[in-house]
Parts: sequence; structure tokens; C-alpha cells
Amino acid sequence: MVISKQTRSKIDAVIAKYPQARGALLPALHLVQDEYGHVSKECAVEIAEIFEIRPVEVMEVLTFYNLFFDSPQAKHHVYVCTNLPCSLRGARGLLRQLESQLGIKAPGETSDGRIFLGHEECLGACGYAPMMRVDGQYHEVLDIEKAKRILDSLGE
Ligand code: FES
Repeated sequence: MVISKQTRSKIDAVIAKYPQARGALLPALHLVQDEYGHVSKECAVEIAEIFEIRPVEVMEVLTFYNLFFDSPQAKHHVYVCTNLPCSLRGARGLLRQLESQLGIKAPGETSDGRIFLGHEECLGACGYAPMMRVDGQYHEVLDIEKAKRILDSLGE
């Protein structure tokens, strides 16, 4: 048993809300990732047992969405949207400046494993370009100073 009893209880509660258990697979993956920071192979196998599906089916879902991770991750995740509307409003330059500030090239993480920096396709908020997503929170109408302040405010 890899998944904690608490998380397993939450998964069971979510499953009970769906007419077919499989409908709760995405929420279950979120619950496991919330607990461990990623969904390990062992957890994926256990989730497959819970949902009575094959482990490869869990892995297919896990690797399809970039919101899920199958290996340990940096503490903070920063994604700059570089799709066309954001790029027209300076997102690519913003990304280059954040790379320079962090001393890394996106996609990549700082040597201390604290921050992962990457780019993302449309965040669905083009009217507020340029956008970035930091630890799941959207930040809009950015300029480099605002973006640097957001990075500086991240905890250890
Ligand atoms: S292109 Fe960046 S939010 Fe749509």
C-alpha cells in the first residue's frame, strides 16, 4: 500500500460521486499528486487496482496531461505562455529574461531543484496577455518587473 489511508478515503469519496468509477480517475490523480508531489509508478499501479483498469491506462492519462508528473519535481513550477497572443505582447522576451534571472534554459530547473521554468501553450486567458502560471495560479498582464517580483515572492 503506497497511497495513504487518508488519500484513499478521499479517492473513495470522489468515486462515489460518479456513475462510473473511471470518471473519478483525474480527481484521484490530483489527490495523489497533492500528497506526494508526483504520481510514482507504484502509485499508478495502486490507482489501477482501485479503478480496476490496467496500469498502462493510468500511465496514458498521467503522461497525456502536463498538469501531472510521474517523477519528483522542483518545488515551484513557472510556465510562461508563449502562444501567439502572449508572444505578440512580449512573452518570449519575458521568458528569456526569466531564464537569465534564474540562470537556466527553459524547459529546465534551477540547480537547487527549487524552480522549474517552462513554456506553455495557450492558458485560455489571451485577453490578459502575457500570462504565466506559477504553482497552478494564473498571473496576467505581466511585464518583467511584475514577473520577477512573483518569482522573488516564492518560498524556499
Ligand atoms: S496565448 Fe497566452 S493565454 Fe492564450
